[in-house]
Amino acid sequence: MFTPEEFIGVITREIRKLNVKCAVAAVSGGVDSTTSAVVARLALGDKLIPVLFDTGFMRLNETSEIINNLTGLLPIRLIDVKEEFYRAMINMSDAEEKRLAFRSTFYNVLSRVVKDNDCDWVVQGTIAPDWIETTGGIKTQHNVLAQLGIETDKVYGFKLLEPLKDLYKDQVRVLARFLKIPSAVTERQPFPGPGLSIRAVGRLTMEKLEVTRWSTRIVEERLSGLGLSQWFAAVWEDNRTTSDELSKRIKDLGSGLTVDVFSIKGTGVKGDSREYGSVALVRGKLSSWSDVFNLYSRLTYGTNVTHVIYELASKGASGGYFAAIRAVVTDDYMTANVPMLSESLLSSIADELMSNKLINAVGFDVTPKPPATIEFE
Ligand code: XMP
Repeated sequence: MFTPEEFIGVITREIRKLNVKCAVAAVSGGVDSTTSAVVARLALGDKLIPVLFDTGFMRLNETSEIINNLTGLLPIRLIDVKEEFYRAMINMSDAEEKRLAFRSTFYNVLSRVVKDNDCDWVVQGTIAPDWIETTGGIKTQHNVLAQLGIETDKVYGFKLLEPLKDLYKDQVRVLARFLKIPSAVTERQPFPGPGLSIRAVGRLTMEKLEVTRWSTRIVEERLSGLGLSQWFAAVWEDNRTTSDELSKRIKDLGSGLTVDVFSIKGTGVKGDSREYGSVALVRGKLSSWSDVFNLYSRLTYGTNVTHVIYELASKGASGGYFAAIRAVVTDDYMTANVPMLSESLLSSIADELMSNKLINAVGFDVTPKPPATIEFE
């Protein structure tokens, strides 16, 4: 059983043995990085410098909300690095390329802050699923280096301290509550390090990023308080073609059902490996709403489809953006289920999203993990 007192005793003793001159803690405002910075501060006191990077891929008003949440807990410094991230990533399309570009920009910036402050260590909130999935080839997590054999002291000029690297999310939350970290942080849904850059799916443009930021706020507000583990929006160009072969697989579930395949790709996990597969959209009325939640089994088996989306609203025209609503329930984020949300709730969120003139259609992702990943990239 995980006991926070015991964990803190062991880990702070270990940190004190490291002879740290000064450490920069990269805090994102999420439970993992905040808890790791608080634990490190217990051992290092003022030798710890907590920083928050504004990468430009944060949600609406997120940086000021984070600073408010951490007041009195960590003397956080906000560093604006938006231009650096935009220069490195705008116009990039491939999911893995985006992740690699995010990671290298992130560590270049971090390395500069470490040098400017004459520090020798970086503290970060890596947890077990991060490195298990990165080393297993599922995806490149932005904060995994050491486990890939990258020697940060040689490449970036700092040593890496990851106090929570053997813990799972539920254990981190227990620890965070024990440390009296505010519930706005401990109960906050996870947000990926590369942020909205991987939720503006496919080619990253400023326009798509802003539509994603706007859609995220609506989906987060409308689905909060329902006990979900993670819920958000993802946005991409509404370019698709109808697949007769996939349409045939579901024709008995209702009348006039059609399956389209988008031009973008979406990540999934099949077996132990990561897939960069097709994203399918089901259009039409199903005889029963509960069948929506079984569509994925018909369309992913024996195909390269990784995400199945059920269309909730469409303006009919071509062009513009498609906004996907994603919601999952999970304990460990290694597998996840899709909650059976009601049609009326989802349709009313879709109507709100459709008020944006750049959004052409909206759907709900009905794919569990596996075969999908929680994110699309
Ligand atoms: P996937 O999409 O792989 O996501 O099923 C599992 C969990 O990890 C989060 N995630 C990330 N978190 N850096 C992070 O800190 C990342 O690069 C990253 N990518 C995915 C995702 O939001 C979900 O909670």
